Amino acid sequence: MKVAIIGTGNMASGLANTLAGAQHEVIIGSRDPAKAAALAEKIGHGAQGGGIEAATQLADVVILAIPYGGVAEAIKAAGSLSGKVLVDITNPISADYKSLVIGHTTSSAEEIQALAPTASVVKAFNTIFAQLLPTEARQGKTLQVFVASDDAAAKAQVSVLAQSIGFDAVDAGPLSNSRFIEPIGEMNIHFGYFLGKGTVVAPAWVQV
Ligand SMILES: NC(=O)c1ccc[n+]([C@@H]2O[C@H](COP(=O)([O-])OP(=O)(O)OC[C@H]3O[C@@H](n4cnc5c(N)ncnc54)[C@H](OP(=O)(O)O)[C@@H]3O)[C@@H](O)[C@H]2O)c1
Repeated sequence: MKVAIIGTGNMASGLANTLAGAQHEVIIGSRDPAKAAALAEKIGHGAQGGGIEAATQLADVVILAIPYGGVAEAIKAAGSLSGKVLVDITNPISADYKSLVIGHTTSSAEEIQALAPTASVVKAFNTIFAQLLPTEARQGKTLQVFVASDDAAAKAQVSVLAQSIGFDAVDAGPLSNSRFIEPIGEMNIHFGYFLGKGTVVAPAWVQV
């Protein structure tokens, strides 16, 4: 798949690395194109890097790997998102990581869909710590990625993408279920950072 990754931070570099290693065509987009180019060069596997609009326009799937507070600006910078699958991995958290800044009646995914009405927004990866994106870091365990969207084809595409890098994609229903998936991401942050488990944990829905 042709995947644009917006951002050059922990999640962006982890996803770019793993996806490029799994033969996807990765294009990194940053508000600092030189940073994206440098990251792409470091990753290799044919990854490219440049500006946000250039990366977006080359891709079918665009992953927003930036803080929730930056998404409006990044969506504006992306240019047309018509027909694109836009993956929201954000946890809309406070500066101290301890609470969500929106929820109950909306979610970051729904707010992103409102900002990009011509794109198909898919919620995914928000419950996976960046430290667990490299396949080897998962030590043979298959972690679940909760995937929510109102567009069945887009949800299927992102599920295939997650499976291609070794995750179990769990259909989590419509995009509005992000109201429940984002608090799970926040609980995971509490387990990882404030309850002593470290960034090696991930939530799983267990079926008996
Ligand atoms: N870290 C995790 O384990 C984890 C797990 C699940 C979900 N998430 C979510 O993933 C997202 C990224 O987290 P992260 O840990 O990778 O963050 P990070 O390491 O701090 O990186 C953030 C990136 O976003 C870019 N950025 C910030 N504001 C921007 C804007 N207005 N326009 C364009 N780019 C902007 C930054 O660019 P500059 O370098 O130019 O500042 C940087 O490349 C967050 O929403 C977070 O909640 C993180």
